[in-house]
Amino acid sequence: MKTGIIIYSRTNNTVTVGERLAEALRIKGHDVTLRRITAANDDPQSRGPVVLLEKPDISAYDYIIFGAPVQAFSLSPVMKAYMAQLAPLGGKKVACFVTQQFKRPWMGGNQAIGHLTRSTEGLGGAVSQTGIVHWSSTAREEQIGRLISALTENASAGAVDGSGNAR
Ligand SMILES: Cc1cc2nc3c(=O)[nH]c(=O)nc-3n(C[C@H](O)[C@H](O)[C@H](O)COP(=O)(O)O)c2cc1C
Repeated sequence: MKTGIIIYSRTNNTVTVGERLAEALRIKGHDVTLRRITAANDDPQSRGPVVLLEKPDISAYDYIIFGAPVQAFSLSPVMKAYMAQLAPLGGKKVACFVTQQFKRPWMGGNQAIGHLTRSTEGLGGAVSQTGIVHWSSTAREEQIGRLISALTENASAGAVDGSGNAR
């Protein structure tokens, strides 16, 4: 299954999780590409609409994992802008995760996952897993480990081999 991990990360927390996830998926034999979204103006103080620079094309992937940080109790504006310009997903399997500083999901994580889920479903994608990593939590490593296990299992579930037969 061709998997694309699509990450926006300003201070590299989210991309660190994405890289560990990519490694875990490769060990399980998946064909994984990690691509980053970038923007011209992702300084939190900057005003005006987000101007995306790198907008990874996801058409080649069968399984897509979106990862982004929480900003201002919501999904980061750069990720919102990226999701808003995506083409229809045609029933593809999608997973989403976010990282946030605070230890409670209601401090932005749930809202951010809600936004990613609604955007994906609005484009006809099927969200099969979501996760939140609380960066300041003492349980952070455990949360990352659980997320990686859930998303790697999810990658194998319902996978088909080259002949179209379920593995
Ligand atoms: C402008 C800004 C706003 C933020 N707002 C929140 C927030 O509302 N809730 C939260 O838990 N963390 C918040 N954070 C912290 C980030 O979500 C957290 O550090 C995240 O792991 C950063 O991911 P990144 O390194 O991939 O950019 C904010 C960070 C920035 C820069």
